[in-house]
Amino acid sequence: MAKEFVKIFDTTLRDGEQVPGCKLNTSQKLVIAKRLDKLGVDIIEAGFPVSSPGDFKSVVEISNIVENATVCGLTRAVKNDIEVAANALKTAKRPRIHTGIGTSDSHIEHKFKSSREKIIEIGSQAVKYAKTFVEDVEFYAEDAGRTDNEFLARVCEKMIESGATVLNIPDTTGYCLPYEYGEKIKYLIENVKNIHKATISCHCHNDLGLATANSIAGIINGARQIECTINGIGERAGNTSLEEVVMIMRQHPNLNLDTNINSKLLFDTSNLVSDGMGMPVQPNKAIVGANAFAHSSGIHQDGVIKNRETYEIINPLDVGVNESAIILTARSGRAALAYRAKKIGYDLSKNELDLIYPEFLKFADMKKEVLDEDIPLIIKKSL
Ligand code: KIV
Ligand code: ZN
Repeated sequence: MAKEFVKIFDTTLRDGEQVPGCKLNTSQKLVIAKRLDKLGVDIIEAGFPVSSPGDFKSVVEISNIVENATVCGLTRAVKNDIEVAANALKTAKRPRIHTGIGTSDSHIEHKFKSSREKIIEIGSQAVKYAKTFVEDVEFYAEDAGRTDNEFLARVCEKMIESGATVLNIPDTTGYCLPYEYGEKIKYLIENVKNIHKATISCHCHNDLGLATANSIAGIINGARQIECTINGIGERAGNTSLEEVVMIMRQHPNLNLDTNINSKLLFDTSNLVSDGMGMPVQPNKAIVGANAFAHSSGIHQDGVIKNRETYEIINPLDVGVNESAIILTARSGRAALAYRAKKIGYDLSKNELDLIYPEFLKFADMKKEVLDEDIPLIIKKSL
């Protein structure tokens, strides 16, 4: 059966850039936008044009240079926001306006001091107005994660009727459990009239560490777009991590889902964003962390040296990492020591290894990690 494609909507330059200290200037944003286009993302959310003159300029310039991806600008359900976004996107080959409003009772009551009916009307007017500028209009139901499903279905139906091509169902506060988020998507697919006319999009935040799991639950239940960021950066605990959802689809062929992402560019892209934003990637981050392909316990090292697949489910080359790393520590065994010594030109016999290993352990107990340059010293001392 042919695979179905899930669109990757990258919001590194919008939701990702909202993080304190991660502000980028226009030229840095252009470098990242170019890379995202090369990486194969389907949509680049370039910014929130009305928010500042700098963001407006960035969206204009990104619109000028992006070759393949759709370029998207965020707005509130406010006429002026929509006009400003439409202006910023004028030169984009494929422009999209992303407009919306909070739909949970909490947002309606406390943020808007309004009513459900009025919120539907404001959202619908915003979609219709955006539609006068561009064909491709995405509607977000902010805090959809905490919006009751029946009302959310009414909102979605009205937005499709008003012309929305994509319905974004954000778990804005990262509250949902994966089965709940999945059921929400299923409910919409089963209950919204004309749902086939729009793509459902997952936009999940990571407050409980569930953003990736929720997005995957969403696509398993029929959503066909994921909104995500490189390295999972974003408001508070971050957004769904692009590299994680892409590799989950690749590593699980039975999902029968794929993306247009060139996964070999993932590691470099992660570094580019991390360097540009001055936001280090945690070493144990899935896919792109420094330790994602590093093995340090003797049992694991022995297995990986015999056959990589014993302890690795992803070939590092597939995500642009040159090779798995065998880290020498006091937990390493003879196999790892022999492997690393061979890499720098010492082909040790079993007897030689037996002699060297106790010296290696003494050394390793003193240091956190034994480096290539330490190996000749250890050999010299013990042979
Ligand atoms: O998290 C969220 O709800 C958002 C919307 C503005 C799409 O980022
Ligand atoms: Zn968000």
